[in-house]
Amino acid sequence: MPSPLGPRAQLVANPPRLPLIAPSILSADFAHMGRDCAHILASGADLLHLDVMDGHFVPNLTMGPDLCKALRRELPDAFLDVHLMVTDPAKFVAPFAAAGADLLTFHIEAVRTPEQVRELASEIRSRGILVGLAINPPTPMEALEPVLADEATLALIDMVLVMSVNPGYSGQKFIAEVLSKASRVREIARKSRPGLRIQMDGGVAPANAQAVRDAGVDVLVAASAIFGQPADQRAGVIAQLRG
Ligand code: DX5
Ligand code: ZN
Repeated sequence: MPSPLGPRAQLVANPPRLPLIAPSILSADFAHMGRDCAHILASGADLLHLDVMDGHFVPNLTMGPDLCKALRRELPDAFLDVHLMVTDPAKFVAPFAAAGADLLTFHIEAVRTPEQVRELASEIRSRGILVGLAINPPTPMEALEPVLADEATLALIDMVLVMSVNPGYSGQKFIAEVLSKASRVREIARKSRPGLRIQMDGGVAPANAQAVRDAGVDVLVAASAIFGQPADQRAGVIAQLRG
């Protein structure tokens, strides 16, 4: 049985407004992480997006449960959106649950079968954490469709993350071809799961935010577009992303 969702989870499960803006702290100043995160929330951000990379699923090595735990301690009300770019996501559910994550997103490329997706989603939800399922640009929609077609699985998924770069690094070029994938997920969700959030991550910036929103995306992630600007201009970027 899924545990009841806490008040922070309601921000994504029953949002007061959409779209939600999720700055990726991968482009924040690691030497001033608490300061940058507090400032970005005060600048209008809804979620903090943590890019967890294991040096295996993707070439880069970034952050782990300890940083999540430190942010939870420093910012008790912040929504922590954890994006697992790791080869073995099941191994990290317990550590991130203990570290105070609010949403755990794992990649469809890291699980072998639709049954495994359901099992992992169920394991995450049983801890009162929201579930995200991510798909990389080269992975076709055919990999996702059987999962979304299964009602029991879809009921356990709170968000689909459509990657708009090949994960690994911030500052890459937006791959516009993935917009049709988001539209397709929205079409499927409209009938069977109207509350499903659709997130896009990678190269998202004010210049393409309208197209991203028009594709049905309601959670926009951005690292370099936000943290690449001086602190006093970040609220303006967040407002532009929101539209
Ligand atoms: C991709 C990560 C993204 C990335 C986004 O490897 O999952 O969250 O940091 O960075 P930008 O917005 O700069 O493309
Ligand atoms: Zn990410």
